Amino acid sequence: MERDTFRIAFTAVVALLAAYSILPWALRYPVLLGKTRVWEPDPQFAHLRETCRALHPVQLHGCEKFKIIGDSLFAACAADWDLRRKWFPPMGEFGMSLEDQDIIRDSLYMVDLKTKELTLLSMPNFPEHVDFCVHGMDFVEVSPGEFSVYMVNHRRDASVVEKFRHKSGSKEILHLATFNGIQQGLVNPNDIFAVPVSSSSSTSQNAFFVTNDHYFRTSRLGRVLEQYLRLPTGSLYYHSTSTGFHKVRGRLPSANGITGFQDHKFDSTPLANMIFVASILDGVVTAYRYVPGKVAEKGGFTKVRDFTFDFVMDNLAMSQDGRWLYLTGHGEPGNLDRHWRSPNEVPSASVSYRMSLTELGAYFGNKGEIGESRVERIVVDRMGLIGNASTTAVGDDTLNKYWISGLTFRGIMECNLYTNLPDGEDMD
Ligand SMILES: *[C@@H]1O[C@H](CO)[C@@H](O)[C@H](O)[C@H]1NC(C)=O
Repeated sequence: MERDTFRIAFTAVVALLAAYSILPWALRYPVLLGKTRVWEPDPQFAHLRETCRALHPVQLHGCEKFKIIGDSLFAACAADWDLRRKWFPPMGEFGMSLEDQDIIRDSLYMVDLKTKELTLLSMPNFPEHVDFCVHGMDFVEVSPGEFSVYMVNHRRDASVVEKFRHKSGSKEILHLATFNGIQQGLVNPNDIFAVPVSSSSSTSQNAFFVTNDHYFRTSRLGRVLEQYLRLPTGSLYYHSTSTGFHKVRGRLPSANGITGFQDHKFDSTPLANMIFVASILDGVVTAYRYVPGKVAEKGGFTKVRDFTFDFVMDNLAMSQDGRWLYLTGHGEPGNLDRHWRSPNEVPSASVSYRMSLTELGAYFGNKGEIGESRVERIVVDRMGLIGNASTTAVGDDTLNKYWISGLTFRGIMECNLYTNLPDGEDMD
């Protein structure tokens, strides 16, 4: 009798668990894998691809992340594709040992969007024998015309964050520091948000947030489990001179893209001190608010809300006017690894959306008045016609331009955001 009671109770608990957590988790699979996807962008973007041209397809290859500041586009790109295929921790490539004579020297490029002139930024004081394997990065203006640049560097001995200084108009970046968060658990850094510098405070020196996408580094089994079970093993770190690396959030299923507001014109709006972090294996972007200089203290870092999407996004980007959050990533993530191995045989769908930030009730008011926001589907490209495995995109409504790049893209695509065709007009 008692045994029956136990059985019934056990079954009930399992059923409840299934209903409340396992079922919603399981039901996300077909959505995120693209099985239920309608392979069309929104009608107003149906002809966007026809307006695209590749900027510098010969030099710019695999620019996983880029950022636009004013008229300059900065892109972190692979320099030697054979080396990238051998060594790129984000894709689980660890095929180069420390003894290997080759040194990885990837590139940070600058494209002048007015003249299209391309500049490879030199690194005159970066140690010659040290790897430079680039991935996520961010720029922040620290004084007029002077930028701090933070870049993830997947060196063979450790994945670290490098800090550089760049002066606008110059053709170089000067290396200032290397930050290594391995002791604190930052083993797989992915992308960075550089915290804007406040004029007076020194507590925010070298302040940035960095995502950690996996818990496991080289363990194949660990990585497979993390990926296929969508385990919440990613995390988010904050770094500053006074705090060192400090984990502000754990339990994020593959924390990847991160962005926020840097321009001081947002300081008096509810968007000030807000960042967005993508937990890509859940297709979720979370908005957080931080207190400058007090991120590591109690109440210094709080969650605002989650936004759920129907694809595995990668990097996030903010339009320069602060009105749109761009999310770009993978429409059929099940193909990504096979595309990486056979780029000429298997396409990897590129997907890019944007979410309006101005429609979120009073810009994320603090009385709970946050509604849903308009989401626009700009690129939904199953065959990778615009490029395969997109990772970063951003648009500019004033210039009517849109840029997109990805893991295996050649060049950065520059397109018209609006093609001036009335909704629904048929070109065919
Ligand atoms: C994307 O990948 C497919 C399959 O490998 C290939 O046919 C296509 O040309 C690629 N797209 C671009 C823009 O290179």
